[in-house]
Amino acid sequence: MKIILGITGGIAAYKAAELVRLFLKKGDEIEVVMTEAASRFIAPLTLQALSGKPVRLSQWEDMAHIDLSRGADAILVAPATADFIAKIANGLADDLLSSLCLARNCPLYIAPAMNRQMWENAATKRNIERVREDGVVLIGPGEGLQACGETGMGRMSEPEDIASFLVASPKRLSGKQFLITAGPTIEPIDPVRVITNRSSGKMGYAVARAALESGAEVTLVSGPTGLFPPAGAKYIPVSTAAEMLDAVMENIHGQDVFVAVAAVADYRVVNPGTSKIKKAGKLLLELEPNPDILATVSGLDNPPFCVGFAAETENLDENALLKLKRKKIPMIVGNLAGDAIGGDENEIVIYSGEGAKRLPRSSKKVLARQLLEEIEKQLS
Ligand code: C5P
Repeated sequence: MKIILGITGGIAAYKAAELVRLFLKKGDEIEVVMTEAASRFIAPLTLQALSGKPVRLSQWEDMAHIDLSRGADAILVAPATADFIAKIANGLADDLLSSLCLARNCPLYIAPAMNRQMWENAATKRNIERVREDGVVLIGPGEGLQACGETGMGRMSEPEDIASFLVASPKRLSGKQFLITAGPTIEPIDPVRVITNRSSGKMGYAVARAALESGAEVTLVSGPTGLFPPAGAKYIPVSTAAEMLDAVMENIHGQDVFVAVAAVADYRVVNPGTSKIKKAGKLLLELEPNPDILATVSGLDNPPFCVGFAAETENLDENALLKLKRKKIPMIVGNLAGDAIGGDENEIVIYSGEGAKRLPRSSKKVLARQLLEEIEKQLS
């Protein structure tokens, strides 16, 4: 792996020397970028000698922030001070390291290190929540004795733990195949009118992105949404439930996991009009049930690990568990329909053989990652 190691100005900066040594031992290539403040805590010459490469300090030498970040597999900032985290939470780019982070097209890991009260400060908490939502991966901090003599949260994770986190985390699902449905389906009444369900597709797309990030191969079968398909996924746009079922069945072979996030319309019109139905008093539509895509997949001889979603207006536990049984699936994610539909945040409960796991309100991006961790646990 080619890693950019960013060092910011805290006393834990001295541990960065050990980190460089550990990465090199694993065979990684390290490029060190330090802030001016970091160079007050540890000499750039130390890191240059260990990494075998010149250490970069200034953004005024060349267009390094673009070139450097293009060639890297990951950026790791260790230690990451409260000040630096505040910068990346707000997209500031006033030195080489923060510019690199803003220009990156690779994962960003940060190992926070600060005094316990700085860690607990409301502003830091807000910044941490924000960078998490932006997809930055946090390593630590841990609890323990601090350089200032106080004891508490904010101690940088040990270099060994940081180094092993970077190998272990990015591709946890590599080799696994995920088929995901997302968005609504639309069922024609006539050429200009449809029956549909409320669904933005945001949760399904977030699950697809999280699976891709973890190294899975992803096929995304999606009803109409206003979203861009995630880069790297095999994307199959559909509109009706029947089309969604066909696309799923054509691609189900060899899948390890099937996540049915789509809000499939329960009914379709028996004989949709071939021309626009003229308005004339009452209109009676005859509806027939759509096929249950999830139940069809879970009923296969050798089904993939199936995960369903249940959006309910009341009695969430009871209704979700009933669906789990009826569809014969090992895991279902429940949420109360309301502001979750169309919004960027949600609050979910994951029901499985392990019981009910309640995940507090968070961005759909963060929830998708947490859901994948649960799926991973059950797969192994
Ligand atoms: O519509 P319902 O509440 O039963 O949806 C529960 C789960 O079943 C969801 O995961 C949804 O994607 C899936 N489903 C499906 N095919 C249907 C209806 C629902 O795959 N026709």
